[in-house]
Amino acid sequence: MAFELPPLPYDKTALEPHMSAQTFEFHHGKHHNAYVTNLNNLLKDSPLVDKSLEEVIADSWQNKNAGVFNNAAQVWNHTFFWSSMKPNGGGAPTGAIADKINADFGSFDAFKEQFKQAGATQFGSGWAWLVIENGTLKVTKTPNAETPLVNGQTPLLTCDVWEHAYYLDYQNRRPDFLATFLDHLVNWDFVNENLAKA
Ligand SMILES: [Fe+2]
Repeated sequence: MAFELPPLPYDKTALEPHMSAQTFEFHHGKHHNAYVTNLNNLLKDSPLVDKSLEEVIADSWQNKNAGVFNNAAQVWNHTFFWSSMKPNGGGAPTGAIADKINADFGSFDAFKEQFKQAGATQFGSGWAWLVIENGTLKVTKTPNAETPLVNGQTPLLTCDVWEHAYYLDYQNRRPDFLATFLDHLVNWDFVNENLAKA
């Protein structure tokens, strides 16, 4: 069965002024949509066509099928990114993740610095992540389409730092975009749900 572009979990205007409707029109409507279309075209005559998205990601990574991997991972990463944000989000975490961040990073401010640093120093395109690995939280960054799923880590939160994620709203100011993501957009409920399942 063909993969489909999932709808945004909120209206395209819901994150304004921090992320504009125009950004969503391009980022979700064009970029994310193109990854879905490309993936379906690539899988048309492949034995992977009936596999789950996670299975396609694992298989194409292992077999170094870059075309399939890049599109499949970008479909997964973007869907995860939309849920990593919510209107009136950001700021200090709540629930279990708040205690876990204090335990594993020392403080929320220390986590924020590491996350901003990861996103700002990812050269070129990629992603900043909060993951859990062997019971410990870590901040990581990945290039291009790469996802922590292939590195034995469980993603809890991500921020897209490809230019298409922020250029319409922030131009070249990636650090400002990362600060806004942390202060106004992070969906800590989603992070807590992912932590509970990890
Ligand atoms: Fe993106």
